[in-house]
Amino acid sequence: MAAYETQTHDYDVVVVGAGGAGLRATLGMAEQGLRTACVTKVFPTRSHTVAAQGGIAASLSNMGPDSWQWHMYDTVKGSDWLGDTDAMEYLAREAPKAVYELEHYGVPFSRTEDGRIYQRPFGGHTTEYGEGPPVQRTCAAADRTGHAILHTLYGQSLKNNAEFFIEYFALDLIVTDGRCTGVVCWKLDDGTIHVFNAKMVVLATGGYGRAYFSATSAHTCTGDGGGMVARAGLPLQDMEFVQFHPTGIYGSGCLITEGARGEGGYLTNSEGERFMERYAPTYKDLASRDVVSRCMTMEIREGRGVGADKDHIFLNLMHLPPETLAERLPGISESAKIFAGVDVTRAPIPVLPTVHYNMGGIPTNYWGEVLAPTESDPDAIFPGLMAVGEAGCASVHGANRLGSNSLIDLVVFGRAAAIRAGQVIDRVGAVPSTDKGAVDKALDRFDGLRHAKGTTSTAELRDQMQRTMQLDAAVFRTDKTLAEGVGKMEAIAGKMDDIKVTDRGLIWNTDLMETLELTNLMPNALTTIVAAEARKESRGAHAHEDYPERDDANWRKHSLAWVEGNRVKLAYRPVHLEPLTTAEEGGIDLNKIAPKKRVY
Ligand code: FUM
Repeated sequence: MAAYETQTHDYDVVVVGAGGAGLRATLGMAEQGLRTACVTKVFPTRSHTVAAQGGIAASLSNMGPDSWQWHMYDTVKGSDWLGDTDAMEYLAREAPKAVYELEHYGVPFSRTEDGRIYQRPFGGHTTEYGEGPPVQRTCAAADRTGHAILHTLYGQSLKNNAEFFIEYFALDLIVTDGRCTGVVCWKLDDGTIHVFNAKMVVLATGGYGRAYFSATSAHTCTGDGGGMVARAGLPLQDMEFVQFHPTGIYGSGCLITEGARGEGGYLTNSEGERFMERYAPTYKDLASRDVVSRCMTMEIREGRGVGADKDHIFLNLMHLPPETLAERLPGISESAKIFAGVDVTRAPIPVLPTVHYNMGGIPTNYWGEVLAPTESDPDAIFPGLMAVGEAGCASVHGANRLGSNSLIDLVVFGRAAAIRAGQVIDRVGAVPSTDKGAVDKALDRFDGLRHAKGTTSTAELRDQMQRTMQLDAAVFRTDKTLAEGVGKMEAIAGKMDDIKVTDRGLIWNTDLMETLELTNLMPNALTTIVAAEARKESRGAHAHEDYPERDDANWRKHSLAWVEGNRVKLAYRPVHLEPLTTAEEGGIDLNKIAPKKRVY
């Protein structure tokens, strides 16, 4: 058994991760007087939410008529009918409240002439249940909305006495008698080990974009929550649905916000054609992301890509007034200059669909409570554990997320988790003491990796995983590519036993940290490709060329994936079809959201 001295901390709540969801949950818990710790591997304002550009969706109706029911309809359609109806209703209904709260906390939103929050059009957001023109629903702070939200929430959390443990890496969950009772962490700057005992642990660890070779995600997006959950024997849900953002900068993958198209930008092919008019005659460049990414890929495949290798597409902003670019899109104007050498007032930006978001994750209900589904109870709750933000899967995005529904997901469900925790946590009871065996098991794993003497370096193995996922679980998938990908990924995951770590230290050991991150990326990648191989239909971001149609009769169900070594076991659970409120109570008319062909 590994011998490490540990320091113990007791809290009502421990939040792991300090992005938008983690900070909103932390703030909500602290505001209620719950003793709350937020543990994060990066400084809070460096979390990946800082990179969110275009905005946050809420039906404020500041720029024209809108309603939460229209927002819900668009979300249902965007999800390609895989989202849970209760969760999608909760998101759309609570969104305006959550955004006004942000405004009151101090988020510096851009403003209309009359001082209201500025809102821009975004893909897939419409009026009149998809029958009317695009709606301006996406509330924006120029093109730095995530940055503004993150800084505000961090300040408010400090004001409310939340305690931050910064540059602490969460190693594993502690499970005691069938409930989560805490988390074991490694403090990166001094090498000490910390056991956080808590009545509730909230995973807000973000996505796993770095399972792929080219992603808009930060290098820190390594699916740490999913990895910990998989090691605790719990399933991951809907992992086959990976979003490609249409406009990553060619080469670097750096994000160019969809807000650029919202402000009037458009895509062209090598013939100078605005090809989206052909594929999506009504919403054109503002069709949903999965649709636009597929159309771009088809243009490239058919020889109409731009550049020397005809392997990308142009995003045109030159026709926009310079003052619009300066006021509404300053960040991406700078990114285009730095990462593509392009002055957006004079030349188009070279772009390519790039991995951006994981619709799947840790299954939860709409309060953020983690599920441990069984055959007899697909909604069974795993006590003591919540998951919010991109790490979780409530599921509001189903098979495809609409742009700007991510930031609203972070704050609505971060807030919901805090509300629920306030209801279920026993404030006077003692913080549970944790199972020493579980702590020892986490430390044995840590020590084993620290002293790993294999032959494959972390960087080599990560590269193999990223290239396999990029090639075999791409925008378009076939039986052949997926089956090959599963074989390759099982072999790659098997090589974790042969990993080589060269730095045995405990202080700022980035070799060990990247290895721990790889142990988290691996189950995320493996479940993604195995669940994709099994799903014999096309739905949302899962575009299967051998099964080009959506198959509701057989596949309108959530996949569940358990990891056992380098193998994955799959099962399915039903999609929630019941809304929270009936039409008579003011809810949406269910006929409006009945499944139909998804066209834009
Ligand atoms: O394009 C963007 O600004 C990204 C927004 C999102 O993913 O929601």
